[in-house]
Amino acid sequence: MTDPLRIAFIGTGKVGAPLAARLARAGHAVVIGEVRPGSESVRQAVARDPRLSAKPVADAVTGADVTFLATPFHVVEDALRPVASLLSGQVLVDCTNPVGPGLVHALASERSGSAVVQGAAPHARVVKAFTVYGFENFEDPTYPGYEVRPTMPICGDDEDAKATVARLVDHCGFDALDVGSLAQALHLEHMTLLWIRMVRVERRIPDLTWTALRRDGIRA
Ligand SMILES: NC(=O)c1ccc[n+]([C@@H]2O[C@H](COP(=O)([O-])OP(=O)(O)OC[C@H]3O[C@@H](n4cnc5c(N)ncnc54)[C@H](OP(=O)(O)O)[C@@H]3O)[C@@H](O)[C@H]2O)c1
Repeated sequence: MTDPLRIAFIGTGKVGAPLAARLARAGHAVVIGEVRPGSESVRQAVARDPRLSAKPVADAVTGADVTFLATPFHVVEDALRPVASLLSGQVLVDCTNPVGPGLVHALASERSGSAVVQGAAPHARVVKAFTVYGFENFEDPTYPGYEVRPTMPICGDDEDAKATVARLVDHCGFDALDVGSLAQALHLEHMTLLWIRMVRVERRIPDLTWTALRRDGIRA
C-alpha cells in the first residue's frame, strides 16, 4: 500500500476528530463519513483542517484504503451494516471500546468488541488500535522530558493491515506495538478498563500513557 493513503472515518467525536486532523496533516487524503446530515461532530471535525471534507458515509468509504471506526460501541453494527460490502478488503481500524455501566466489559468478557466489529464487516481486515488511552492523548501525544513516545498496542489477524496501521500510529505520534492476533482484542479492552479506572477514577493521574521496553533494544 503506497503513501499517501485514502482514509475514511465513521465517527469523528472526541477520538475520531483529532486522529482525522493528524492524518490529514501527515498528507493522507482523509474524508469524514456523515451519517446524519448536519451532524455537529462532523462539522466541528471538518473545521479542524482545511484538507478535511465530509461526504455521506457510503461515498466516504468507497475506494478507501483504510476506514477508521470511532463510534460508540453500541452502534457499531448499525454503523457498519450499510457499508459492509464496501469495506471488503479494506483495513478497518477498530477504535471502539465495549465499556458497560460501572466500567465493566460490555460483553461480559465473553467475546471482544473487535469480534463484533469483524462479524459486522466480515471481509474487512480489522485492526484494533487507538483504544487504550483517553482522547486527550490523540489531541496531544507528546510527553516533554522523555526520549520515548507513548506505545500504542495494536492487534489483528492480517500482517499487512497491521503494518499499515503501525505507519498511521506513527503519523499520529505513537510507537505501535503489535501484540498479536485479533483474539488479543479482548485483553486490550481490559487494558482500556484498567487505564480508565486508574487514570480517571481511582488514582486520577492525568496525562499518563505506557511505553514498551525491549531488551534487544529494538523499538516497539
Ligand atoms: N473518549 C475517549 O477517551 C476514548 C478513547 C479511546 C477509545 N474510545 C472509544 O472510541 C469510540 C468513540 O468515542 P468518542 O469519545 O469519540 O465518542 P463521541 O465523542 O460521542 O463521538 C461519537 C461519534 O460517532 C458518531 N456516531 C454516533 N452514532 C453513529 C452511528 N449510528 N453511525 C455512525 N456514526 C455514529 C457521532 O456522530 P454524531 O455526532 O452525528 O452523533 C460522533 O461523530 C467509543 O467506542 C469509545 O469507547 C474513546
